[in-house]
Amino acid sequence: MMLEPDLFKRGMRRLASGVSIITTVDAGERHGMVATSVCSVSAEPPTLLVCVNRSATSHAAIRRAGFFCVNLLAEQDDQLARRFSTPVGRDQRFDDRQWTTLTTSAPALVGSLASFDSEVVEAVDVQSHTVFIGRVKAIELWQSEFVPLVYHDGRFDTLRGPGQSKSEPA
Ligand SMILES: Cc1cc2nc3c(=O)[nH]c(=O)nc-3n(C[C@H](O)[C@H](O)[C@H](O)COP(=O)(O)O)c2cc1C
Repeated sequence: MMLEPDLFKRGMRRLASGVSIITTVDAGERHGMVATSVCSVSAEPPTLLVCVNRSATSHAAIRRAGFFCVNLLAEQDDQLARRFSTPVGRDQRFDDRQWTTLTTSAPALVGSLASFDSEVVEAVDVQSHTVFIGRVKAIELWQSEFVPLVYHDGRFDTLRGPGQSKSEPA
C-alpha cells in the first residue's frame, strides 16, 4: 500500500527538532539556510550529517565547496531562522549579525549555541535531497548558558516549559 505523503508530513510535525543554519561559501559568495535535519553520526571521529534539498541555493554551493558549517540557534534567533528559510531577502541574510570563520571559510555565527565547521566526506543522493556527511574540523561553543530554538508542529518554540512559548506559527 502506498502511504500518503501528507500523512508522513503530519507524523513528522510531531518530531521536535533543534534548528540550525547551515552555511558555506562558493566563488566568494556566502550561502546559508535553515535546517532541522542535522544529526550526529559519530564522535570518533566527530562526524555529522545534514539533508539538503536539491532545490536549495546552498545545495550546489556545498557540493562545489566541499565544506559547510552547522550553527545551532538559540531561542532568541527565531527571526534570523525565518530569514534563512524563505527566499525573500536572500541577499540580506548575513547582514545584521556577526559572522566569522573557523577552519574552512564557511561562515560561523558568533553568539549561536555552537558552530561545527565540517568538510564533506560523503554525499548521498536520496530522492529530493542529498545527505551531506561532514567530518568536523573545528567546533566553537559560543555560550555556556543557553536555551535552544526548537521547531515543532510547524512553529518555532522554546524549551522553557509549558505555556511559555514565545513564537507565533511560522
Ligand atoms: C524549521 C525549518 C526546517 C527546515 N529544514 C530543512 C532541512 O533540513 N533541509 C532542507 O533542505 N530544507 C530545510 N528547510 C527549508 C529551507 O530552509 C528553505 O527552503 C530555504 O529557503 C532554502 O534556502 P534558499 O532560499 O537559499 O534556497 C527548513 C525550513 C524550516 C522553516
